[in-house]
Parts: sequence; structure tokens; C-alpha cells
Amino acid sequence: MEFIDIHSHYAWDIDDGIASLEDAKKALAKASKQGIKQIIATPHIIPGTTNNIDFIKERIKEFIKLAKNYDIKGYYGSEVMLNSDCLTSLKNDEFISLNNGPYLLVEFNLTQSINEDCYDRLYEYSLKHKLIIAHVERYFHNKLNLQLIQSWIKDGHIIQVNSSSFLGENGKKVKNNAYTLLENGLIHVIANDTHRITKHRYPNLNDTYELLIKKYSSDQIKKLMYDNPLAIINGEDILPIEIDKIPWFKRRK
Ligand SMILES: [Fe+2]
Repeated sequence: MEFIDIHSHYAWDIDDGIASLEDAKKALAKASKQGIKQIIATPHIIPGTTNNIDFIKERIKEFIKLAKNYDIKGYYGSEVMLNSDCLTSLKNDEFISLNNGPYLLVEFNLTQSINEDCYDRLYEYSLKHKLIIAHVERYFHNKLNLQLIQSWIKDGHIIQVNSSSFLGENGKKVKNNAYTLLENGLIHVIANDTHRITKHRYPNLNDTYELLIKKYSSDQIKKLMYDNPLAIINGEDILPIEIDKIPWFKRRK
């Protein structure tokens, strides 16, 4: 099985992701072993703080060149934080859409609760781009707000969940949130959000796929981990995926 990662921090030494060229090489070798064949580099852009977008683009160019050595196709992208300065960044076009196409990866501040401001910010950005909301399972520290997430989908936004969350790398609460979203058919895409070579958000798409297909339809999981990511790269429309559980007596050991 081949995988596509639409959310990653391999472009080294520009954010809290991979720290050096040497680490980028090790992470790419690990990605290759996981069957990851295409990676969108999505460095963090923090409106009001990030002021080196040209340097970020140069580093992504270097990453794309490096990834070829591992038989991995790289693409341009970014992950834009929808903070209080984000409307100024929007006006100034200070972001990189995925594969320079219609989709833009956005995130909220994980340390703050999601509030009503999210609607205005998403609305303004959605006038220019189709929005993919990053790691949705990580924002809800108490109770997962399924109604809010359903309203995001109704508004046309794409729901992305991190593979590491299914593996339990982000704690029990986040793991439960990821499975609840999956079983309610509220996910469009699973991505790796690679930040490190080992621990937490390391290249693990194949590990996640193998775990999930023990319990859920492999065709449907493939849609979340390959078909929809490919459609995102190509700028095509996608839908959330309904997930069927395999009856316990038919599950692989
Ligand atoms: Fe990220």
C-alpha cells in the first residue's frame, strides 16, 4: 500500500518540526519504509510572527529536491494558524496553498478553546480557498463537539485527523476523539503531521493503516489515506468517508 502525506514538517529548521538536514534525511528514509510516496511540506505560518515566507519557500524547494533521492514526490504547502492576526495575513497573501492549488491547510491554537471567532476566520479564508482543518481531534480537551464539527463540514470545510492520534501518541482523550470522528464518518483525510524521526509525530502511516484495517473496511481506510489525499493534491472535490466496522469474528488477528 502506498501513502500520501498532505501535512508534514520535514522542511527543516524553519519551525518546530524537523530540526536539521541530517534529520530530514533520516525522516525521509523512515517515510520511504512506511510506503509514503508523496509528501506536501506544510511549515507553520503564524500570522503576526512569521516574516520569512520567501525563505520558507526556498527551504521547501530544497526539501522537494532532497525527497527525490528517496523516491518521494514533494509539494509546496503551509499550515496557517487562524489567530487574531490571520485576516491581515489573508489580505497580504502570506501563505502557501497545497500544491499551489485550491486547498489551504489551517489550524487553531491548541492551547485555546475553540470559540465563536472560528466561524468568522474560516469564512473569510474560505472566500479564497477550500479549507482543510488540521488535526481536529486535538482541539477538544473536554468533550468532542460533534455538532460544531458537523457544521464545519456543512460549510464545506475538510476534516483532517493525525495518524499518531489513532496510535495513542497524543494521549487517551485525543485517541478517543480520533476514533469517535472516524466511526461517525466525520473525517475526510488522515495525515501524518510528521515533526520528528521518533516519538509522537514520526512517519507512521503504514503502522496506522495496518492497525485500522484490523477493525474497519480497508477500502474505506484507503480512501482516507490515499484517494482523498491524492484528490487534494489534484485540487479535486472530496467527501468525508463513511466507515464500516468489520464484525469481530471476521477480524484479522
Ligand atoms: Fe502541523
